[in-house]
Amino acid sequence: MPRALANVSGNGRSVGITGVGAYAPDKVLTNADLEEMVETSDEWITTRTGIRERRIAAPTQAASDLALPAARAALADAGTAADDLDLVICATATPDMLFPATAALVADELGAREAAAYDLLAGCTGFVYALSQAHGALTTGLSKKALVIGTETLSKITNWHDRSTCILFGDGAGAAVVQPVGDGGILGFELGADGSGGPDLCVPAGGSRTPASAQTLEQELQFIRMRGQEVFRFATRVMVSSAEELLAACGAQVEDVDLYVPHQANKRIIDHAVKNLGLDPAKVVMNIDRYGNTSSASIPLCLAEARDAGRLEPGTRVLMSAVGAGLTWGSAYMAWTDGRMAA
Ligand code: ACO
Repeated sequence: MPRALANVSGNGRSVGITGVGAYAPDKVLTNADLEEMVETSDEWITTRTGIRERRIAAPTQAASDLALPAARAALADAGTAADDLDLVICATATPDMLFPATAALVADELGAREAAAYDLLAGCTGFVYALSQAHGALTTGLSKKALVIGTETLSKITNWHDRSTCILFGDGAGAAVVQPVGDGGILGFELGADGSGGPDLCVPAGGSRTPASAQTLEQELQFIRMRGQEVFRFATRVMVSSAEELLAACGAQVEDVDLYVPHQANKRIIDHAVKNLGLDPAKVVMNIDRYGNTSSASIPLCLAEARDAGRLEPGTRVLMSAVGAGLTWGSAYMAWTDGRMAA
């Protein structure tokens, strides 16, 4: 069944991102630091992943603490007051608590009074999934202005004795204001999941299958478990197929893409996608060397950096693709628009 959907504006409404913001904690953990913690080397990490350093949240910082400055920056970029928001979606695999939703805590801190607020769990694809949810609510008129956040404190669920995972992940947050726009905006989505790959990337304990206990702590089941090669194979396949299906549904060619914003999981996965899609490497946004894999925060972090670097101009065609726990995948295609100037 085809999953790609183009021309997604409903009721004649175009919906776009009108502001982006990001935040990363101050503490930097370098590959040299990791050499002191596990049997690894800067050379191995750099050549196998492209990561040189990552940010680590302070012990007192939870996902909502990272989300807040990112959200405030996105609101400022969009010229929007928090109490104009009526929907806050937070994509995260590392919420402050299982419940209440981190989105509700962030909305309260921001002053987005009475905005609907919920968390969404789609691993590293979370931001693309959340963007599609906000888009749906806006095109139907259910929402008038939404805030989509990707925030992660993966360092808190990382096993710092497991060299096959601890070198990969970092902490950070990114946010986007989503609202109706007069021109451009979101052109299409392609989303999917294959739950048979769930065990390839999971946190085994702490849920209803295996509640936390002294035994699960002893077995370190509260940390990320990953079959790296399986995830790698899956990622290289779907990062290409998802983008191709979406561009085809939008009647677009790869040459039409001005900026490619892939989830930052591994530089080799990104390079593979760029090569197989036939994209010009100059169009790729990459910051994995400085942040590692920040899961649902990685795409909005990249968007905020691209915005600061002047790479997002009205009309810029942006292709975003991600793959993550689930296993999930998703792509979004949009024409950047300056909402404040829209009719
Ligand atoms: N330092 C040194 N050696 C290491 C390290 C390390 N940190 N980690 C593994 N090795 C060793 C292995 O033990 C193995 O040794 P052996 O040959 O003696 O057995 C060797 O290096 C090769 O290991 P591989 O697993 O084959 O290495 P690979 O090239 O596949 O890279 C990696 C591993 C980086 C994890 C890769 O598989 C990958 O990036 N997978 C995708 C991960 C990913 O993107 N996950 C997140 C997705 S999204 C989300 O929702 C969180």
